[in-house]
Amino acid sequence: MIEITKTGIEGLDSILNGGIVTDSTTLVSGNPGAGKSILCLQYIYNGVDQFDEKGIYLSFEENEADLREAAESIGFDKWPEFVENGDIKVYDKQVLLRENDFSSSLDLLLDDLEDEEYDRLVLDSLAMFNLFFDDEAEKRTYLLKFTDILRSNGLTTLMTNEQGAVFPDTEIGLENYLTDGNIYLIQTPTDSGVSRYVWVAKMRKQDIETDIFPMEIEWGGIQVHENASAFSMMSEEDSPL
Ligand SMILES: Nc1ncnc2c1ncn2[C@@H]1O[C@H](COP(=O)(O)OP(=O)(O)OP(=O)(O)O)[C@@H](O)[C@H]1O
Ligand SMILES: [Mg+2]
Repeated sequence: MIEITKTGIEGLDSILNGGIVTDSTTLVSGNPGAGKSILCLQYIYNGVDQFDEKGIYLSFEENEADLREAAESIGFDKWPEFVENGDIKVYDKQVLLRENDFSSSLDLLLDDLEDEEYDRLVLDSLAMFNLFFDDEAEKRTYLLKFTDILRSNGLTTLMTNEQGAVFPDTEIGLENYLTDGNIYLIQTPTDSGVSRYVWVAKMRKQDIETDIFPMEIEWGGIQVHENASAFSMMSEEDSPL
């Protein structure tokens, strides 16, 4: 029986066939503004709010105040309270980028990673994390080492990556292969604004829905409409792919 960690986003859990595989690492890819950070905030917030699971949020891009403001602006109003009482542990860029190399940053985190209190982890973003490394081989070694540490400590993880879903224009990076799950957030401009979609391209050990589904970002966070396949709703030229 495979254990599942729910994101708490109903439509997404549904297309994931229940949720994310517990202890796995999933890459959340998308262009700037696609909603990667919001999905991650929501995953950590729902963990505490709905499932009594504590979370660690590693942000290489924002400081703690930015994260709090982003969370509050979308309606996760108990975020500050959860951080205050330790249900959510934030390591922001000021803390993480103070160290010169990843080993020293990892040392900072290790106590919390090994603490069985936490179930969920976010790393936002891999692009910034990669700046610690000089070459691909070193980066790959550390990514593997890091995901191993997360897995062995029972942390179910989302990592964000700036990458579009239009293949073959987009190079598929090693990180796509090294992670257990790949979720793409896609946005396309329309006359009235933007259409948003989510595509779960892989989730090891899970029988997922691999169609592309429409989603919205609104007060309360991301909503995925799992009953409507994007393609059945769209004309050819509106297709995101
Ligand atoms: N309260 C809100 N209501 C509706 N849409 C919102 C709200 N707050 C944010 N958004 C939308 O979400 C988008 C930002 O999402 P997010 O910060 O998660 O993107 P991202 O993929 O992390 O981008 P980046 O790669 O730049 O970090 C904004 O561009 C905005 O369109
Ligand atoms: Mg972001």
